[in-house]
Amino acid sequence: MRSPFIIVAIDGGAASGKSSSARALSDRFHLLHADTGSYFRALTAHLLLKKVPVDDPAGVRRVLPEIKLTTHVSGHSARIEIDGRLTGEEIRSKEVNAAVSHFAAIPELRALLVQYERGQAEAARSHGFNGLVMDGRDIGTIIFPNADFRFFLHADPAERARRRAREGQTDAVAERDRLDSSRQTAPLACPQGAVSIDSTLLTLAEVVAIMTTAIEEGIAALR
Ligand code: C5P
Repeated sequence: MRSPFIIVAIDGGAASGKSSSARALSDRFHLLHADTGSYFRALTAHLLLKKVPVDDPAGVRRVLPEIKLTTHVSGHSARIEIDGRLTGEEIRSKEVNAAVSHFAAIPELRALLVQYERGQAEAARSHGFNGLVMDGRDIGTIIFPNADFRFFLHADPAERARRRAREGQTDAVAERDRLDSSRQTAPLACPQGAVSIDSTLLTLAEVVAIMTTAIEEGIAALR
């Protein structure tokens, strides 16, 4: 039987395992995967390249209208292109880690990505996927509040810092969470009706198993 088109929203703090579990679900259910953290990172790298300081929202507002965002679908992954260019590993740099939450608090920058991200449901359909799995901070609250499946991942901050260190990254996860949770526009929060998962003591496979069961049961009920 043909699968229904589904939207899966995964939200959570820095290094909570969102993107890894979203990638696993995209393989399992043939969904397009959108890692929205990478979109905020790509815009941050672009703004830093344009020499816009993090404390200059007017400078950000000046640059935004010149930016053209498009999507490159590569395998299961929806990658952002800025002015026709894909970004690379520079979006994981220590400079981007330190700046991204400051730029992400600017309402105009968020508004640009809200439109772009909603459009990815259509990209998923037109590329023949069974749906879209999107991870970030505001997916189940703002981008797709009616997503078929909503998950909220959290984990002990010390464990999350260890995960980043194992990846060889310098990243103040607790500080980014503080900024992301306290901003005025679209703060990080557990979406209504989301399945909340504490991943501190779970392996990635265990987290994915919980999500997979919930989605399989939900799909069976949708049929
Ligand atoms: O997911 P990742 O840690 O790569 O996200 C980088 C930053 O992008 C976050 O700390 C947050 O400031 C911002 N972000 C956001 N909303 C999203 C995704 C990411 O504000 N949906």
